[in-house]
Amino acid sequence: MGKTGIFYGSTTGTTEKVAETIAKKLGIASGDVHNIESGSGDLSAYDFLIFGSSSTGLGDLQYFWEEYLDTLKSADLSGKTVALFCCGDSYTYSDSFCGAMRKIYDAIKDRGCKIVGSISTGGYETDDTDAVIDGKFVGLAIDNDNEEDKTPERIDLWIKSMKE
Ligand SMILES: Cc1cc2nc3c(=O)[nH]c(=O)nc-3n(C[C@H](O)[C@H](O)[C@H](O)COP(=O)(O)O)c2cc1C
Repeated sequence: MGKTGIFYGSTTGTTEKVAETIAKKLGIASGDVHNIESGSGDLSAYDFLIFGSSSTGLGDLQYFWEEYLDTLKSADLSGKTVALFCCGDSYTYSDSFCGAMRKIYDAIKDRGCKIVGSISTGGYETDDTDAVIDGKFVGLAIDNDNEEDKTPERIDLWIKSMKE
């Protein structure tokens, strides 16, 4: 695996916390974990990119991602490997759970990058959300609002599936 960077947007700090946990588990230095709110980080510096957002509205992107999507759309992603994660609330927003992840997925899917890290919906309380394609979440779905106890294991399984 080449150099890995994490780019995340977070409103109340949940996605930030998850980004930091993922970084720790993958051995990614804090200087390669970028809060998109600050505009730091150069996408072209990385071979493997991890994008994280929370969901707001009804399956909408976290606020900073709305703007950052333009940066993403103008970036050269060809040849890169990309994984997505999202923080949401599967109890209150079961039909738009982690919908933001789908919006990022749609913005990058035809851009020459390889998207990895889709996961089974097994064990989630969710109902027909856009974040699911062909029975799988397009990336790691986290619900720290209701199921924080499951987060470490979900991250571990996701990392394991990508390594395989
Ligand atoms: C106004 C509002 C709308 C939300 N809409 C969604 C949603 O559509 N889907 C979802 O999964 N979670 C939704 N959530 C839950 C947040 O995504 C969740 O609390 C998340 O952990 C926040 O992460 P952050 O602090 O990194 O922004 C919403 C929360 C708020 C306050």
